[in-house]
Amino acid sequence: MCGIVGYIGEQPAYDVLIKGLHRLEYRGYDSAGVALLSPDGELNIYKTRGKVDDLERFCESKDVSGNVGIAHTRWATHGEPNDVNAHPHFSCSGRLALVHNGTIENYNVLKTALELQGCTFRSETDTEVLVQLIEYVKETNDCSLVDAVREALKEVIGAYAIAVIDVNDPDMIIGARKSSPLVIGIGDNETFLASDATPIIEFTNKVVYLNDDEIAIIKKGQPLQIISTDNRPAEIDIKTLRMSVSQLEKGGYPHFMLKEIFEQPRTIHDCIRGRVGSKGATVTLSGVIENKDRFLNAHRIIIVACGTSWHAGLIGKRLIQEIARIPVEVEYASEFRYSNPVLTDRDIVIAISQSGETADTLAAIQMARKCGAFVYGICNVVGSSIARATDSGTYIHVGPEIGVASTKAFTGQVTVLSMLALAIGQLKGSVKPGVAEEITSSLRRLPDLIKQALKLNESIEQLSGIYTYVHNFLYLGRGFNYPSALEGALKLKEISYIHAEGYPAAEMKHGPIALIDHELPTVVIAPNDELHEKIISNIQQVKARGGSVIAVVTKGDTTIADIADHILEIPEVAEPLSPVIVSIPLQLLAYHIAIKKGCNVDMPRNLAKSVTVE
Ligand code: F6R
Repeated sequence: MCGIVGYIGEQPAYDVLIKGLHRLEYRGYDSAGVALLSPDGELNIYKTRGKVDDLERFCESKDVSGNVGIAHTRWATHGEPNDVNAHPHFSCSGRLALVHNGTIENYNVLKTALELQGCTFRSETDTEVLVQLIEYVKETNDCSLVDAVREALKEVIGAYAIAVIDVNDPDMIIGARKSSPLVIGIGDNETFLASDATPIIEFTNKVVYLNDDEIAIIKKGQPLQIISTDNRPAEIDIKTLRMSVSQLEKGGYPHFMLKEIFEQPRTIHDCIRGRVGSKGATVTLSGVIENKDRFLNAHRIIIVACGTSWHAGLIGKRLIQEIARIPVEVEYASEFRYSNPVLTDRDIVIAISQSGETADTLAAIQMARKCGAFVYGICNVVGSSIARATDSGTYIHVGPEIGVASTKAFTGQVTVLSMLALAIGQLKGSVKPGVAEEITSSLRRLPDLIKQALKLNESIEQLSGIYTYVHNFLYLGRGFNYPSALEGALKLKEISYIHAEGYPAAEMKHGPIALIDHELPTVVIAPNDELHEKIISNIQQVKARGGSVIAVVTKGDTTIADIADHILEIPEVAEPLSPVIVSIPLQLLAYHIAIKKGCNVDMPRNLAKSVTVE
């Protein structure tokens, strides 16, 4: 949530910062702003409500000179999205500018104290407190900017990644983090700083991930310095990124979401590469091998996640229980962290997160580790906070996901969970005969099966025209595909703003059936599986009440074809992996309905990709 970027070097800072903001815009797009230190010693701050394009238009006739600057794209928490609340915020004297990602919990106390000292506040944000506090400390103690930041942060409760510049120290940027991500890019005579590596990768693949309670001192033409908030030098661990710029572009597609849907044959191939061989029925996950005893002795697994990742967790529960025969619970991270759970060192907590930055999931991990549980991460973003906070884990390796609605990450998570279930099951010897062969051979075929499912694109586009203006949708599924129904409904509501509810198909008759009439379409996920006959009855119950049915079925299913209004045929796939294939038509349906409604699918209103606040 919120993206920050900073640059110091020899290039025009404005160009680097604007490019960086575009890359970070998926983190928030309520307002944007930039602060530049001009060659003639001015601090120029430009900010506006709206997207980065609006900021660019706003800056067209402005002085954007200078090689040092910081910038921000906002997802509003404190104060409505307007020009004044947009970042960068500046100090009373106008000499300091600051951008911030996170939330300052004690901002009211700090604000009142600063107001008593004569500070005037312009915005309603929690962030402004930081810049005023830093200036206050700097002036009262007559100290350097670094010392002022260090001292000021001691007073702050909350989460932050910040970047600060000072007109009196024009060749320096100070960065600091606690519970919000900050990455520093090391180039030749230039240094970058950003919420994630996407604005940096175009210029350098050498990065340093700042740790909590660390402060980065970035000076023009000088090596990076990192100190802790208690003023001890910290280690500088330079990592080499393997991301490429082309992964961050639309590659000819009109939207990132569509590109990411169509990328799935390749992303799933990347996800299983090196883990499932071209022959045989074994799965190799280094995280499981290295922690063999933990998995062998586990009494219970608790999966914690949010949103789409939580839906993947529900599928993971069935996979692990069925294949590895370990009891599994699935919890919303936001509930789990405050539930005072009973945890022991025989529990394994699996945290699932695409971004690896979700605040609730991160807090749940920290709590679980304190209680002695072993924490295993399933993340996409390499080097993210969650990936670093867990004891071990497996990356899904699907490449950067930029569209705010998660698509390829979901299929990657389910794929990893199926491999994890099998790897643990093989270790324990609990896998039933034939199951390992069935799962591994389906995993190998997944990229091809996804390709076949993607052929539905055109027919789904046509179908979406019929349903563009309905107000509600019901999604039903059973077994492995009950979570698919939840996920299908979430995709539709988040990008098309149509209310949609996912339900276990058989539960429909205990309430939601009352909603069914000719105005409520129902998407029924009904591939060939153990419960196929049962779901046919559920479809008939909907039809008998005048509802229309769009059914996702296995190719050749003539029974459902005769009853449903529309069918979307997917290829035959092993039942435990069917959610991966089923999700393709559901993603496409949500996409095309949203496009027909004229919605911005990559940046749906009120949402942000990386939820770094509670
Ligand atoms: C929905 C979506 C969100 C995320 C959720 C968790 O399409 O993207 O529901 O799944 O915010 O995010 P991560 O997986 O990054 O922890």
